[in-house]
Amino acid sequence: MAAVKDIVTLVLDKDHKTTVTVHLHGATVLAWKTQGKEIIFVSESAIYDNKKAIRGGIPLVFPNFGPWELEPQHGFARISRWKLEKKPEKDDSGAMTAVFTLTDNKDTRKMWDHKFKLTYTLYLTEKTFKTTLKVDNTGKETFTFTTLLHTYFRTDDVTKATVSGLQGLEYVDKVRGDGKFTEDRELVTVAGEVDRAYAGTPNNHVITGVTGGGKVLMEKANLPDTVVWNPWVDKAKAMGDFRDDEYPSMLCVEAGHVATPLSLGASQSFTGSQTLTLMDE
Ligand code: BG6
Repeated sequence: MAAVKDIVTLVLDKDHKTTVTVHLHGATVLAWKTQGKEIIFVSESAIYDNKKAIRGGIPLVFPNFGPWELEPQHGFARISRWKLEKKPEKDDSGAMTAVFTLTDNKDTRKMWDHKFKLTYTLYLTEKTFKTTLKVDNTGKETFTFTTLLHTYFRTDDVTKATVSGLQGLEYVDKVRGDGKFTEDRELVTVAGEVDRAYAGTPNNHVITGVTGGGKVLMEKANLPDTVVWNPWVDKAKAMGDFRDDEYPSMLCVEAGHVATPLSLGASQSFTGSQTLTLMDE
């Protein structure tokens, strides 16, 4: 279990039917409950030791997607302690918002010697949950990075889930030795291990088969790529922080900027966002 002191909760309504829970380790979103339905998956074997990345939720990938020669897979943002910059409060439009920040420190500079500030802003309304990640280069040198919002959706049976908007696009298939292929399906489904990075995806995907909600619209801005991941049987067994029988219960659909790195000069910034909406069935 996560310790109470590590948790920040955004509560939209007095009945606690629409809430978001965030762990300060990685500013990892652990839960998004909308109208009483939990949409996000977190493994029952997730480890909350403030060291390891939390298995599930929405880990933030920065400054590197995938294996990284400078250190941990998917970078350090998801394993760093973030600061709660602005406590949850309602804005003028009635949305609950909260802001988390991460700035370079001796640990990050040991791996990646650059000055930066990450600002992660959450907005919660009755049906939508928006997350915005801003990257500021606060140093004098240009740096390059890749980034991604690694969202784990909760499913009852992942083989019944679908992801729209990928037909005709090129993808890198990590399951097939990083080979490049073109997607021919209108709706992508899962019937085995899936680990695909689609480049140049449209700004909208519809994900069906999500527990409780059924259908979620993912709208993204400035995040041109989409990764679809499910570990299936063998990878599930190989992960110490994931139960062997949990792979049918999740599907990662991850909005990012990963096919080509971004480059930021001194004082420049980048903002990418995703908005998740529970759609009527
Ligand atoms: C996905 C990658 O984004 O994350 C997969 O495409 C990887 O290759 C998965 O296995 C989980 O990564 P991790 O580091 O959280 O086990």
